[in-house]
Amino acid sequence: MPNARSLRESADKGVQTMARLAYDQFGLDLGEGKEGLIESRLGKKWKQRGLASLSEYCAFVESDQTGQALTELIDALTTNHTSFFRESKHFDFLKATVFPLWRGRREIPIWSAACSSGEEPYSLAITLLEELGADAAGASILATDISTRVLAAAGKGLYASESFPRPMPAWLGKYLLRGKGSYEGWIQIKPEVRRLVRFGQVNLIQPLPKMQLFAAIFCRNVMIYFYRPTQEQVVNRLGACLEPGGYLFVGHSESLSGIEHGLEYICPATYRKPGGRRSR
Ligand SMILES: C[S@@+](CC[C@H](N)C(=O)[O-])C[C@H]1O[C@@H](n2cnc3c(N)ncnc32)[C@H](O)[C@@H]1O
Repeated sequence: MPNARSLRESADKGVQTMARLAYDQFGLDLGEGKEGLIESRLGKKWKQRGLASLSEYCAFVESDQTGQALTELIDALTTNHTSFFRESKHFDFLKATVFPLWRGRREIPIWSAACSSGEEPYSLAITLLEELGADAAGASILATDISTRVLAAAGKGLYASESFPRPMPAWLGKYLLRGKGSYEGWIQIKPEVRRLVRFGQVNLIQPLPKMQLFAAIFCRNVMIYFYRPTQEQVVNRLGACLEPGGYLFVGHSESLSGIEHGLEYICPATYRKPGGRRSR
């Protein structure tokens, strides 16, 4: 019979193995002080799968060729929490400062780089259509996440009606379809909005696929999970994907101070790549 000490040692080993796996695969900071989080978030997972320990669960995730176990793991370790028009200051800044620069552009490529279930890219698409009208014709939003589960939900563009601001402003209603019958209580994003958004899987800690340069990148509320060196690497990779004068938006709780990057600080959680046109 294993005694309490050997059980604890084996649990500690499992936690260390998982912290390493989460770092290697996703760049996650699950080091010192996060042992409880690993145990509480993953305790059920390995038991549900009939495995004997966290170490066995790590081995299972590493050997799974489908990628499903990795998705399940990232979903358990990070949160997919998001909402429509989250951190509204960014939307105010877009309207006041950035959109005037984008009027008349033939192409406006935007990247929502950890888009979760789609609320962020759809909020951007709706804001572009509402504010730029015909000038939004060249806008396209690449919306990516590491989790195929949230991407599948995002692609449907179907949300519970409570997901939207209450009371719903009349202008917002123009872009949404209210469900009827068995879809009562659900709202579908209209095709003219969905047409602007395309979804795909990108792991931000791996070398990025070859992409066009973006006029703006939203990478909000994901870097908070990364170790500082990983954050620096991700910010620099994103910076390289911005056109001169392009904007990087990070979450308001994610400071880039102490990180070496070549971007100009504009206002909280908002950075700009030097060059390009400036607003007056
Ligand atoms: C809290 S949500 C943020 C959603 C949205 N950007 C917002 O601010 O509302 C964080 C998202 O980051 C994703 N994520 C975590 N690690 C990632 C990685 N290495 N690469 C890409 N996405 C990742 C998660 O799957 C999750 O959907």
